[in-house]
Amino acid sequence: MTKGADIEKKKEHIEHMFNNIAPHYDFLNHFLSLGIDRYWRYKAANILKSHAPARILDVASGTGDFAIAVARRLHPESITGYDISEQMLRIGREKVQKKGLEGIISFRQGASEDMPFEDAAFDAVTVAFGVRNFERLDLGLKEFERVLSKNGVAVILEFSRPRIFPVRQLYALYSHYMVPWLGRLFSRDASAYRYLPQSVEAFPDGADFMAKLTQAGFGGVAQKRLTFGIVTIYIAEK
Ligand SMILES: C[S@@+](CC[C@H](N)C(=O)[O-])C[C@H]1O[C@@H](n2cnc3c(N)ncnc32)[C@H](O)[C@@H]1O
Repeated sequence: MTKGADIEKKKEHIEHMFNNIAPHYDFLNHFLSLGIDRYWRYKAANILKSHAPARILDVASGTGDFAIAVARRLHPESITGYDISEQMLRIGREKVQKKGLEGIISFRQGASEDMPFEDAAFDAVTVAFGVRNFERLDLGLKEFERVLSKNGVAVILEFSRPRIFPVRQLYALYSHYMVPWLGRLFSRDASAYRYLPQSVEAFPDGADFMAKLTQAGFGGVAQKRLTFGIVTIYIAEK
């Protein structure tokens, strides 16, 4: 199989997986993280607030939790939620309507590697728990840089690997054994929740991810590790 066909296959697999888990995603997300995911999104939204962006693109927006957190905290002109999975977006649309945020947040389906937006169309790009799923991370990051306006900023929240004892060992046990077990119990899809720790381990976090942001053309790049390094917020200025 060619590399291109391989990438296409992985993209379809990810889309299918998120379409499958969409009905359980919100519940399991909050449950498996013991609710801390809300605090992580809140911290990332706070960092973005100081940049006061008017037009925001939330990539891998899923069911819209980060877009909603940002809308509430920043009151921007618009947020475009963009995601490969139509089923995740369907739930996102319902939530946004229920919360009366449809004047600010709208959704569009598509893949991060090839975005249908004009150059410099946004003042900020945000991603929460999305970049580690990208089939072509390098292309996705280049697209972020392309669609950002001059002085625009990307704020990216992603799982990372805790390095310190005993958090590293406890987290490995939790993510490799508890998460797939609970995932299967509630969503009947153990493979999706086995994928979670595997994707975190395969992701180039910390300094490696910052180097990728620099390669994609970003100027100032910084990171802030949260909760013993279980997640990291990356801030990249154009
Ligand atoms: C773990 S969810 C995160 C959703 C949301 N940002 C949040 O904070 O809850 C990851 C999302 O990334 C999307 N995704 C994965 N690969 C993608 C790609 N290449 N382009 C766009 N979205 C993608 C999935 O469909 C899924 O909705």
